[in-house]
Amino acid sequence: MSRPQPLIAGNWKMNRLPSEAVSWTRELLARLDRAPVEAGELALIVPYTHLPAMTSLAFGTQVALGAQDVSAHEEGAYTGEVSAAMLADLGTRYVVVGHSERRAYHGEDDALVNAKAARVMAHGMVPIVCVGEQRAERDAGRAEEVVLGQVERALQGLAPADPAALVVAYEPVWAIGTGLTATAADAAAMGAAIRRLLRRLLPTVADGVRLLYGGSMKPGNAAELLAQPDVNGGLIGGASLQLDDYLAIAAAA
Ligand code: PGA
Repeated sequence: MSRPQPLIAGNWKMNRLPSEAVSWTRELLARLDRAPVEAGELALIVPYTHLPAMTSLAFGTQVALGAQDVSAHEEGAYTGEVSAAMLADLGTRYVVVGHSERRAYHGEDDALVNAKAARVMAHGMVPIVCVGEQRAERDAGRAEEVVLGQVERALQGLAPADPAALVVAYEPVWAIGTGLTATAADAAAMGAAIRRLLRRLLPTVADGVRLLYGGSMKPGNAAELLAQPDVNGGLIGGASLQLDDYLAIAAAA
């Protein structure tokens, strides 16, 4: 089977104001108009407050919008939460679930990540399920065991009919926002291990599911990482806030 089309997803985290996001998106779309990125799909994973304006600006373009989190509940008395139905209604395509910052600062575990991913899929959006080991776990030779355990628990009971309905992002925690990056060989090995697990868990779609790498991806290292067979795109934090860097990474895909 041919490799899945790459997905270059910028994770803005809690950065930029909604008004700044509008001018940034206009500039991105103007640049893409002049010089389209051929190879893959682009996505911007932004705060909830940015989604309505950015989604309408990007409607019908090659840029999809995504949220950084979602409630595990369908609707009701959950003050402060945002439901999958609300995100879908805006035209949101992707929802990141289980980012390591949610796991670290909000105590999210694999069972909650699994419930959120199921909710996202039930509303016709695509979860980007994040997994990754801590430095100490890698140093102890346990990276693969930790990551595959996270994948298996996070995907429990999910049965996407279409490979495009699921994305898994491997983000070694020690590489996020640190300037440290996994070697291309380590990213490739983890991608291959996740792919083997998916073939067992979801045999009909496994080969087409996009596996992203995240953790200090930047223009200087993107081409080598994205050339690995089981690295089908990136989840890019810091570098995605700079238009030139984001476009340079997309061009490397
Ligand atoms: P980074 O973040 O590119 O700034 O390391 C990646 C992420 O957290 O998704």
